[in-house]
Amino acid sequence: MALNRENFLLHKLHSLTGIVPIGFYMLQHLTLNSFALAGPDKFNAVIAFFEGMPKHILLALEIGVILLPILFHGVYGLFITQRAEVNVYQKKYRYTENWMYFFQRATGVALFFLLILHVSTTTIAAKYLGRGIEHIQYAGMQKMLTDNGYLGLILYAIGVLLASYHLCYGLWNFCIRWGITVSESAQIALRKVSFVAFVAVTVLGWAALAGFLIHEPAGASQPIQAQAPASVAQQSL
Ligand code: HEM
Ligand code: HEM
Repeated sequence: MALNRENFLLHKLHSLTGIVPIGFYMLQHLTLNSFALAGPDKFNAVIAFFEGMPKHILLALEIGVILLPILFHGVYGLFITQRAEVNVYQKKYRYTENWMYFFQRATGVALFFLLILHVSTTTIAAKYLGRGIEHIQYAGMQKMLTDNGYLGLILYAIGVLLASYHLCYGLWNFCIRWGITVSESAQIALRKVSFVAFVAVTVLGWAALAGFLIHEPAGASQPIQAQAPASVAQQSL
C-alpha cells in the first residue's frame, strides 16, 4: 500500500524518534544504571540528581523528551506492524534479512508491553503512586529484580536484549532510509558496526543488572530528604 504524503512524514518522524530522542535516551539510561556496579551510593546519587532538579523542568523533560516520543513511536510502530506483510516465509527475500525484518517488528511489539510494565513499576509507582523514591533506589531495584525467584531479573535481561536488537538493527535500517548508507559496501560495513553495537549495548545493560546483585543494600538506601540542622540532629540522638 502506497504511503500518502501525511503518512510519509509520520513514517519519517517515527524513524527519527527511534534514534533521537529514544535511542539516545536508552544509551544514557543504561549507562547511568550501570553506576549500580560502583555500589548503592553511586547509583542513589544518580537518582538523587534527577530528584534534585526543579520539578517543572524534570516533568517537562520526562513528558516532552521521553514519554511522548516513546508513546508516538510505539503506537505508530504497532500501526506499521499490523499493516506490514509478514514475509518471513517468502523465499524471494534472503533468509537472514527476512528474519531480521521480522524480529524488528516482533521486538517492537514486545517492547511496547515491557515498557508499559517497566515505567509503571518504576517512575510512575515511585513518583506518582506514592511508593516513594526508595522504590527506585538501589535497594528497591534490587528487591524488584530478585523477588519471586528472580523473575524481575529475567524479564529485565530479556527486555535489554530485545531493546538492544531493536535499536541496533533499527540503526542499520535508519541509515538506509535516510540515505546515509547508499552503496552495498557501505551497508555491509554498517551491518558489522550495528552487530558490534548490539553486543556492546546488551553487555552494558546486563552489566547494569549485575550491578544490582553484587552489593549489599543494607543501610545504603536512605530516603532522600532535606538535611536536618545540626542542633535538631543532636537533640534526636
Ligand atoms: C538495566 C536495565 C534497566 C534498569 C535497571 C532500568 C531502571 C530504571 C529506573 C530505576 C527508572 C526510574 C528512574 C526515575 O524515575 O528517576 C527507569 C525509568 C524508565 N526506564 Fe528504565 N531501566 C532499564 C532499562 C530500560 C530500557 C532498555 C528502556 C528502553 C528505552 C528503559 C526505559 C525507561 C523509561 C522510558 C523510564 C521512565 C523515565 C521517566 O519518565 O523519567 N529502561 N528505569
Ligand atoms: C514502544 C515500543 C516500540 C514499538 C512498537 C516499535 C516499533 C517499531 C517498528 C515497527 C519499526 C520499523 C519501522 C519501519 O521499518 O518502517 C521501528 C523502528 C525503529 N525503532 Fe522502534 N519500536 C518501539 C520501541 C523502540 C525503542 C525503545 C527504541 C530505541 C531504543 C526504538 C528504536 C527504533 C529505531 C532506531 C528504529 C529504526 C527506524 C528506521 O527504520 O528508520 N524503538 N520501531
